[in-house]
Amino acid sequence: MESQELITRTADFIRDKFIGEGSGHDWDHIRRVWQTSRAIALTLPRADLLVTELGALLHDVADWKFHAGDEEAGPRAARAWLTSLGVEQEVMHRVETIIREISFKGFGVPTPMSTPEGEAVQDADRLEAIGAIGVARAFAYGGHKGRPLHDPSVAPVQHASFESYKQNTAPTINHFYEKLLHLRDRLHTPAAQKLAEERHQFMEVFLKQFLREWEGEDLSGI
Ligand code: ADP
Ligand code: NI
Repeated sequence: MESQELITRTADFIRDKFIGEGSGHDWDHIRRVWQTSRAIALTLPRADLLVTELGALLHDVADWKFHAGDEEAGPRAARAWLTSLGVEQEVMHRVETIIREISFKGFGVPTPMSTPEGEAVQDADRLEAIGAIGVARAFAYGGHKGRPLHDPSVAPVQHASFESYKQNTAPTINHFYEKLLHLRDRLHTPAAQKLAEERHQFMEVFLKQFLREWEGEDLSGI
């Protein structure tokens, strides 16, 4: 099968599976990660577009957060799909590696990507977690899990292990301090670092305003 057909078939498969999903892992998220990964990969001389695009399309195919913590569920589901398309072993292996390596695993846990395609997809996925869309997705995820927006009595934790990060049930505002505000400094590619700047600043403005309203500080203007 030609590369273009492999990509189109995979996009159709994932669109059907994720359309209307409400936890922040919806088709529109995946579509944006796909487009952003492609744009980033085009700036990287050594990145292969087929591996990048398949990796982006399949990166959330069976996320461990929604599969009882099973970290191999994603790579396994990707392999099953790519096998059904007859994709060559080498490409399949590189796509599986992206899915295995992509997730954030806690403040203190390094998440290096072993290929330039992986760097493009991880950066694109992390750009989705910051900025206005990042704010919306964080609260969509928190709502999906039944978490409060904010609770000043619960201090943010900088998780030193994936195990403690996985068990976290903190209010959504804590997620900004535990993860989202650190993402800008954990990107690999100059293209993503450039995009992240404005998104990061927007998040800081959002948090400042949120806490101001929470504390009723703007009431003094009445
Ligand atoms: P990543 O792809 O960076 O590993 P995830 O798949 O962990 O991101 O998260 C998907 C979306 O859900 C992101 O926007 C992320 O910020 C949000 N999210 C994940 N965990 C939490 C949480 N504990 N509270 C609020 N939002 C979360
Ligand atoms: Ni994602």
